[in-house]
Amino acid sequence: MVCLGNICRSPMADGHLRKKVKDLKLNVFVDSAGTANYHVGKAPDKRMISTGAKFGTPIDDLRARQFKATDFDKFDVIYCMDSENLKNVLSLARNENDYQKARLLLNELQPNADLAVPDPYFGTMADFEAVYELLDKAIDCIIEKIKNGKIR
Ligand code: 4NP
Repeated sequence: MVCLGNICRSPMADGHLRKKVKDLKLNVFVDSAGTANYHVGKAPDKRMISTGAKFGTPIDDLRARQFKATDFDKFDVIYCMDSENLKNVLSLARNENDYQKARLLLNELQPNADLAVPDPYFGTMADFEAVYELLDKAIDCIIEKIKNGKIR
């Protein structure tokens, strides 16, 4: 799961997908990163932590890191929160195989609509909750695909 800072959207997506795969005993490795390095080593934004806690997904143990080209070797799919994140991830792709791994998360919900998970950083608590709701729906689609062996 990739966003800009790895302190709001992607840690919430990461923690929520981790929780669901654990609850369902699915064998899937989940992680997140930011395309920027501003917040490397930091815990998620307090507003995202409290939103996660409110809805039952603790994310306070996650720490921000920056996306790097070798992540293409470690992951089958790289979900990006918006088209800018996707562009920055794709700029690090070394070959066609890398390129095919990166996609927009919300295309799981609405294929080819190319919608963004809105950046809540300068927003209100309602914006953080809206991010949670969107991520929850998109992650349910991913879980169904994993169960059906259709994640690629
Ligand atoms: P995120 O949100 O990409 O969802 O983690 C942001 C976090 C920090 C900044 C922007 C977006 N920032 O400009 O520092």
